[in-house]
Amino acid sequence: MSKPLRIALTKGRLEKDTLNLLEKSGFDCTAVREKGRKLILPIKGANIEVVLAKANDVITYVEHGVCDMGVVGKDTIMEMSGKFFELVDLGFGKCKFALAAKKGTDFYEGYGVKTIATKYPNVARTFFENKGMDVDIVKIEGSVELAPLLELSNGIVDIVETGTTLKENGLEVIEDIVPISARLIVNTVSLKLRQEEIENLISIIEENL
Ligand code: PRP
Repeated sequence: MSKPLRIALTKGRLEKDTLNLLEKSGFDCTAVREKGRKLILPIKGANIEVVLAKANDVITYVEHGVCDMGVVGKDTIMEMSGKFFELVDLGFGKCKFALAAKKGTDFYEGYGVKTIATKYPNVARTFFENKGMDVDIVKIEGSVELAPLLELSNGIVDIVETGTTLKENGLEVIEDIVPISARLIVNTVSLKLRQEEIENLISIIEENL
């Protein structure tokens, strides 16, 4: 038998929906659900291995070909870019990128260069470049909502799902940037070398979306 097809799954928010989809598609994910601290898990009865990784690492592993496929959010894809095929919009993990600021502020008012805090500097840079607007971007690692509250920034570019985090911190969306959802990505060489296997798997998954 050929070596297992390796799929990298994003841990955390997308994990549950991805496993539900795989199970609905007929794959036995028991080992993944009972993983403990194990990071590479077999799918019983199929020549597939699941790797659980952080979103950025899913892209790195797929890009380098050590995983054939991956499930990752469009947010991470937009921030990291890279060389791989993005083949399926899985339809879950829905949220959006948005520009937000303190409630009641007129964000675009005045001529001074605005400061934007974000976990996604590339996405933020492209958004403001497309507007022809010069901004200072400050990279933050978590809870970006803090930055305008602490007066570090005039606004944030971040993911908004339910809007609860913004609301509970006195912030509001100034502008929607782009909708986001989970995507299935495939290594370019794997798609050539294991085309039939990968296409079969994708068609089973698509039937169960
Ligand atoms: C994301 C995002 C917001 C929050 C938005 O962070 O950065 O803080 O979710 O969700 P809401 O609109 O439903 O309130 P996440 O919880 O993924 O944590 P992180 O800060 O560790 O990235």
